[in-house]
Amino acid sequence: MTPPATSSKVIKNPRAKHGFRGRTCSITSVGSYVPEKILTNADLEKTVDTSDEWITSRTGIRQRRLAAPGEFTSHMGAKAALRAMKKGGITPEQLDLIIVATITPDMPFPATACLVQQQLGAYRAAAFDIEAACSGFIYALEIGQQFIMSHTYDTILVIGAEKLSSIVDWTDRNTCVLFGDGAGAAILQSRANAHGLLTACMGADGNKAGLLDMPGGGCRCPATAESVAARQHFLRMEGKETFKNAVNAMITAAQESLRRCELDISRIQCIIPHQANQRIIEAVGERLGAKPEQVFVNLDKYGNTSAASVAIALDEAVQTGRIQRGDLVLLLVFGAGLTWGAAVIEW
Ligand code: ACO
Repeated sequence: MTPPATSSKVIKNPRAKHGFRGRTCSITSVGSYVPEKILTNADLEKTVDTSDEWITSRTGIRQRRLAAPGEFTSHMGAKAALRAMKKGGITPEQLDLIIVATITPDMPFPATACLVQQQLGAYRAAAFDIEAACSGFIYALEIGQQFIMSHTYDTILVIGAEKLSSIVDWTDRNTCVLFGDGAGAAILQSRANAHGLLTACMGADGNKAGLLDMPGGGCRCPATAESVAARQHFLRMEGKETFKNAVNAMITAAQESLRRCELDISRIQCIIPHQANQRIIEAVGERLGAKPEQVFVNLDKYGNTSAASVAIALDEAVQTGRIQRGDLVLLLVFGAGLTWGAAVIEW
């Protein structure tokens, strides 16, 4: 089925009332990279007490990608970035700023963004990481947008990249079936003939930080023989509670972002939700009143890639022609923190 046609109603840019007239922030190109190695549900059946039937019916995931042993978040991020730069005709010297969203940096410091800068040879660019778990890509887009709108920078590279396989407990069937590795990248620039990123809503609730975390490795629990033995350096999640919060937060963020733009959900050609669980995606779509054909899903191939999730999906949607210039796109994210967000983009 074809997505709903755009009506001729003028799209309201909520930024305008804040004095941002005359300067827009557009995503001028996107790229993504996923590692070669595929881990199927059948492969997991051999290592943990699970089944393809359980994983597929409870999550929608059929396979995920795993980075090679010497392949790190910075490498995947740089590869996704090079693809976005090639498509957009952007040279490394043009980049003013690199923002990497990740919960699996190559190391606690220096920032993975600095390692990406080195790999790209983008030596004019400032570089830093942000950490908002699965919500990181929208957080990074919104930060990048502020620099474009304020005329501070002209060309910004935003990356969501993760090597989640390095923090997944491969003996815990509750979590190990859910996650995968990969990266997505976007170039932000001001473009005269489009509204670009119309609005981004972000939220957080630190009261629920314990639903999804990795207790070890920070200053609260530095690495010791005991912390390793207690499996403190792996991701932990209370799946059911996370599920409920994910649905409610993404709906609230979506409604707020649409309200700001005075748009009805029927006007959105492509909704790209965080690719964590097919049942979460369906619940959010239904409660927003969206038609299934408006919603882009690729989690069957990659599982949950956290900050890379909507970035990879956005690139695939553009590459496959699912998003066309002028389309309205709604990104929805949710993750540890808890954090959440929504962004409306005129492509
Ligand atoms: N294979 C087989 N059985 C399993 C598996 C598995 N891989 N995992 C759990 N089970 C079992 C459980 O042990 C439980 O058995 P029991 O009833 O005997 O105790 C049963 O299946 C049901 O488990 P639940 O946890 O209740 O299953 P649920 O339907 O809630 O699905 C899931 C679990 C998939 C984790 C779901 O809760 C979910 O997707 N949660 C949200 C995840 C998410 O959105 N994360 C986003 C953020 S991620 C980030 O920020 C990094």
